[in-house]
Amino acid sequence: MIKGELATGIFVNAASVIMRLGVATTILTGANLILSGQVDFMTLFMFLLVITRVYAPFDQSLALIAEVFMSEVSAERLMEIYDTKSAGGKSEFKPNGHDIVFDNVSFSYSDGKVLDGVSFTAKEGEVTALVGESGSGKSTCARLAARLWDADSGKITVGGIDIDTIEPETLLTDYSMVFQDVVLFDDTVMENIRLGKHGATDEEVMQAARDAKCDEFVQKLADGYNTKIGENGTKLSGGERQRISIARALLKNAPIVLLDEATASLDVENESKVQSALSRLLKGKTVLVIAHRMRTVENADKIVVLKDGKVAEQGSPSQLKAKEGSLFVKMHDLQAKEAKWSV
Ligand SMILES: Nc1ncnc2c1ncn2[C@@H]1O[C@H](COP(=O)(O)OP(=O)(O)OP(=O)(O)O)[C@@H](O)[C@H]1O
Ligand SMILES: [Mg+2]
Repeated sequence: MIKGELATGIFVNAASVIMRLGVATTILTGANLILSGQVDFMTLFMFLLVITRVYAPFDQSLALIAEVFMSEVSAERLMEIYDTKSAGGKSEFKPNGHDIVFDNVSFSYSDGKVLDGVSFTAKEGEVTALVGESGSGKSTCARLAARLWDADSGKITVGGIDIDTIEPETLLTDYSMVFQDVVLFDDTVMENIRLGKHGATDEEVMQAARDAKCDEFVQKLADGYNTKIGENGTKLSGGERQRISIARALLKNAPIVLLDEATASLDVENESKVQSALSRLLKGKTVLVIAHRMRTVENADKIVVLKDGKVAEQGSPSQLKAKEGSLFVKMHDLQAKEAKWSV
């Protein structure tokens, strides 16, 4: 589509250059003829008058042609949006518990499988850690678990119910998501947290903020909870933004928590604050965490190691550690070495 726009643009510009060249050539040739005495100025003037009159409609038509092409491209885009099927489903969701089960799930974005026959269970009350190299499909699993996309084959159930049959909006009332790229709005701290629960009272919001250890940095802001935090929270540090998103999740108190672990960029003090806020959030929930830190992984109840979109191994940390030639152990050792280097 972008190619189409480019081709049209180039065509219109080239034609317009050729036309302008016509006028320039007439002037140049005319000037030469005047100098050599073959025509007089009035004749050239008449020529120029005629030639600009002749070219004007062409110029206008060219502009119109360009617009026709452009609107065709826009229309194609519109049709694409209309043709995209919206994810439908029932607006009632009454699962039996909140175990998340991936059953032979495969998925591709546009070309090439990103997930290939992934099966695992994230149990209620447990922390299930997804680990694996960059690009192995961890975030994709989290997105599918929240039905941000539908699996191509296989199925994902929550409490025994196939999530494909539930309307996304209804489904998401049972999810809290704490992702790396937290979306914050240029509104007050209070309103940003209140997004977690529509109609929460100020006291509820502040309680969640205290539990998420937001309180101390909020006190330091000029207007406390009524301070505007700038577009996407630009006035806050990474750790502060995360704590706001944790406060939001605490307020929501949904039974499923999807967590793209984001503590990698935090300093030690901030990290332990975020960790203690998280531990409150995670209690008794079904937690699916994309873990980047070995500490989280070791404290998880279950680890699922992804490799090239497949489950390479899964089990408790101690089970995986005991396994001969375990990928998990290799990753663990590598991180331990890296940790030493950075000191
Ligand atoms: N929106 C998208 N459109 C097309 N391809 C995508 C999209 N998102 C991810 N991919 C591709 O899917 C594969 C898996 O991506 P995914 O984000 O799940 O990896 P990940 O395990 O979360 O990696 P990381 O540790 O770097 O976050 C990658 O090859 C990536 O390029
Ligand atoms: Mg990811």
